[in-house]
Order: sequence, then C-alpha cells, then structure tokens
Amino acid sequence: MKWIIDADPGIDDAAAIIACLRLGLDVLGINVVHGNSPVEDTLRNALRLKDLLQSEVPIYKGCGRAILEPQLNATEVHGKDGLGDVDWPSLVSEPEEKHAVDMLIEQSYIHSGNLGILAVGPLTNIALALIKDETLSERVNELVIMGGTSGARGNTTIVGEFNFAADPEAAAVVLQSGIPITLVPWETCYHNLVTLEQLEQGGKEPLRNLVGEKFLEITAALFERTRHNLGYSGLLLCDLIAAAVILDPEVVTEDLDVFAAVETSGVYGRGLTAIDYAGVTGNEPNVRLILQVDRERLGALLRRALIV
Ligand code: RIB
Ligand code: CA
Repeated sequence: MKWIIDADPGIDDAAAIIACLRLGLDVLGINVVHGNSPVEDTLRNALRLKDLLQSEVPIYKGCGRAILEPQLNATEVHGKDGLGDVDWPSLVSEPEEKHAVDMLIEQSYIHSGNLGILAVGPLTNIALALIKDETLSERVNELVIMGGTSGARGNTTIVGEFNFAADPEAAAVVLQSGIPITLVPWETCYHNLVTLEQLEQGGKEPLRNLVGEKFLEITAALFERTRHNLGYSGLLLCDLIAAAVILDPEVVTEDLDVFAAVETSGVYGRGLTAIDYAGVTGNEPNVRLILQVDRERLGALLRRALIV
C-alpha cells in the first residue's frame, strides 16, 4: 500500500514521521497543515525532518486555517517553533509547488485502491479534498487518524481533542466520508506514554546517532511539560501511536467498531466525538476505535526507528 502522511509537526508528529520513514512505510508525500503551529512553521518543521532523515519524500504545503474555527495552536506544548525550540542547521530541502489538497486528489487517481492516509493533525486538507472531489473516498483504502476522544475527555476544550477542536467541520466531513477509518483517540494516547527507560532498553549507545540524538533533544522539553502540565512521567507521543497501528498492527490490544460523528454546534459540545456505543442510532459502524495498545511494543518500535 502507498501512504500519504498529513501532519502538523509537532513533536509527536516528528516521532510518527521518523518511524514511518525509517521503518520502511511506502510514503508518497508528507502534507502539512495548520495546527500545533501556523502552517508556515509546520512546513518548515517537515522540511527540517526531511533534511534530518536525508529523505527523498516530497513535502507539500496545505491549508493554513480551519474551515470555520479561528486559529488554534499548541505552542505551549510543542514550543514556539513547534518542534521543541532547539537549534537546527539551515534548511536544504524545499517544498513542492503543488498544494497538498491537489496532491492528495492527484495521487488518489494514480494509486486508486492502493492508497492509505495517516492523518495526525487537524483534518482540513482531507476535508477540502473530499469536498473538491466527491469521488475521492472511492479510491482511498484506509484512513488512520490520531484525533478525537473515546470518552469525551477533551485536551483543548471540555470535550474537544486538539485535532478535532482545531477544525470540527473538517473532522465532521471526514468521519462521514465513507472511507474506512481507524481512530486513535486522546484517551488511548495518555494511557500509553513511552518512557526513556524503554527507549534506552538494550543500551544508550545505539541512540547516539544524528536522528536519535535530535529526537531526544526535541522531546526533552516535552518530557518536562508533560510531567508539569499533566503529571505524567514519559513521552506523550499521540501521533506515534497512529503510525504504530500501521507499522506494527499487533500493537493494538483492544479495538471496537462503532458509529462516530463530530459535533459542530453547542457552547460546550463543539468538537465532541459523539460515539454510539449503545447502538441507539442504528447506524452502521464507520470507525475502528483503538482503545488500548501494547506500550512495551510501542516503545520498542520507536527505539527501532531511532537506532537503525
Ligand atoms: O491532541 C493531540 C494531537 O494534537 C496530536 O496530533 C498533536 O500533535 C496535536 O496535533
Ligand atoms: Ca499532530
């Protein structure tokens, strides 16, 4: 299967991108979107990662704002530059001319029936592609999303997880698209942090390489922020979990097929992932919800990506 990564790098996006590119996922391109930082920063960060990984994978700039929601960023988590505020060499790589939305539509015709999308940021690019070409969903095999919640426990609004809260309209469009969706919700992420001990299992020496050392550098501040803001000790790498579901499907230990939709109205409810656990709507399931993963396996996957 060929894959397109749609991301808002972002420290945990970086973990997902490093894992995908270093563990052999067949990636057609990385599309960036507004989110953790403004799209100019998420684009620069994706190019930094392309340089770091010496990757040929093309980078495409996507949407700089949500369909309706005013700009929402998470620089308090990912740093002012969106990637841990550490030093980087000057950029070598450049973005492609084509817009990310057009790239997604074009590639869906070339790889029709053999295309997956890993979406780990706000879903604006994917929603716009679905609106611009209403047949897109017929050509995409699988969409793996980090986003939403399994129990309405928001991290950005009372009920909203960041990727859905940053563009609820886009999330609503994508969830009703008919593409087979695997959803990794916020609650599954914060129950499965990766610890430094896990990463160093088998020795610290193999981590001493350009990618390993840069990763540990950009996550150092995130480690402290996670401990200070959430009281958790470890690396909260939501997007890595979504990537791991593709790279190592056995990492999933509990999942559930459910009908889910995204609420776009309401003072408190906007951005809610409404999940029909009781089957009261009678709607067919449209989402495979990932409820638990094997944390040790996740840590081992990240270590493999950092030491190859
Ligand atoms: O809520 C977590 C999500 O929001 C992750 O994708 C993180 O990178 C941020 O975009
Ligand atoms: Ca992200």
